[in-house]
Amino acid sequence: MENQSKDRGSFSKLGFILAAAGSSIGLGNLWKFPYLTGSNGGGVFVIVYLVIIATIGFTCMLGEMAIGKYTKLNPIGAYGKIAEKWKFVGVLGVLVPFLIVTYYNIIGGWIMKYIVESLLGHLPAIAGDSANFFTAHITASTSPIVYTLIFVIINAVIIQAGVNEGIERASKILMPLLFVLLLIVAFRSVTLPGAVEGIKFYLQPDFSKLSFNTVTAALGQCFFSLSLGMGAMITYGSYLPDNSHIEQDAVLVPLLDTFAALLAGFAILPAVFAFGFEPSAGPGLIFITLPAVFDAMPFGTLWATVFFFLVLFAAITSSVSLVENPTAWLIDSYGMDRKKAAWIVCIVAFLIAIPESLSMGVWSGITFPPMGLNIFDEIGYIAESLLMPAAGFFMCIVIGWVWGIDNFAKAVTNNGEYEFKSKKYFEIMVKYVAPAAIFFIWLNSSGILSIFS
Ligand code: TRP
Repeated sequence: MENQSKDRGSFSKLGFILAAAGSSIGLGNLWKFPYLTGSNGGGVFVIVYLVIIATIGFTCMLGEMAIGKYTKLNPIGAYGKIAEKWKFVGVLGVLVPFLIVTYYNIIGGWIMKYIVESLLGHLPAIAGDSANFFTAHITASTSPIVYTLIFVIINAVIIQAGVNEGIERASKILMPLLFVLLLIVAFRSVTLPGAVEGIKFYLQPDFSKLSFNTVTAALGQCFFSLSLGMGAMITYGSYLPDNSHIEQDAVLVPLLDTFAALLAGFAILPAVFAFGFEPSAGPGLIFITLPAVFDAMPFGTLWATVFFFLVLFAAITSSVSLVENPTAWLIDSYGMDRKKAAWIVCIVAFLIAIPESLSMGVWSGITFPPMGLNIFDEIGYIAESLLMPAAGFFMCIVIGWVWGIDNFAKAVTNNGEYEFKSKKYFEIMVKYVAPAAIFFIWLNSSGILSIFS
């Protein structure tokens, strides 16, 4: 993506959808969604998540795309243009992605470790003892950090070289391939003996398991998975020509993203039950389950290698979009050159990743406010449960009550050139439903409501 001060490029229709889908489909879908579903009661989490995507997710997606398309500016400049006093919302767009990058890199490193193990043909050995293998790896003090560093370097090289175009071209082949492989793995998973229990767990909501934590987790996941709440879609939208139909895109991108997440759930959860793993195993769930699934497939090592490689690719298309925002900010605000800015962001993020990675092993006893979690979980909590929903909340207020629905509609329809079909729905969502829901969930997750109980 070009720097603000240079000539701004523009996206073709397909290019925009690919870039937006590339940013949104990542570890959030493949790694996070299955384990969140597993630890939040199964089907009931899926239902809550789908409802949140169709209401808050769609609203914030269209909101960000429209702000970007209308202003043609980075998030800070964009808020400055439509509602001067609300510029601070754009500032979250620099801070939040940076926080996310720090731990995203660590998970990227775990994926690299699994690629290497698959290439070395160690998969069957891991499959027999995958839970211990995984724990031993992430709690070690050096190896996960070395893999994180490799992932960081790949990112920095891509961003500083500005080879996003190359990534986009590769996306056209590799992302569809990822869907095909997910389908194959999901097919193997649901046909395993004993998988039925897992399918039930996934698809039959048990409403007695519905709790506030389920809702909080689903809201955070909506923002994380759709790349919302930090202006990533404002930035992408800013490269759109005026006459693009973003209303369709704001439906299509969440649909693709949700489809990927649901498929990942089918690939993992039935197998969890078939092999007798714990659905609530947390962040390790895919790393523990997948080796066993691949081991149960003919040519398992080959499938595993290709699959983890595609996951890595999806992770890179997302992490590049995360690094891009703080990088662009350094370029715009400090006149830094792209190379230097990209390396600074990547190196500082890597330095923060070191204690985060150690917090899963030797430093696991050290906890931080506000939630008393270790630093890895605490940074994730602050970014996903507090800051991203807050940015979404303020965006709804700005669109619904400051900039105004009529101005918004003009931006969406390019001054009435075509119809804004969901205008009434969007208006109700952006003015009332989304901000009220986010506010209430946010109050609860920040711990403030517990004062009253
Ligand atoms: N959506 C990505 C995923 O699911 C992560 C991500 C990329 C992201 N860019 C973002 C999250 C911007 C929030 C904001 O893995």
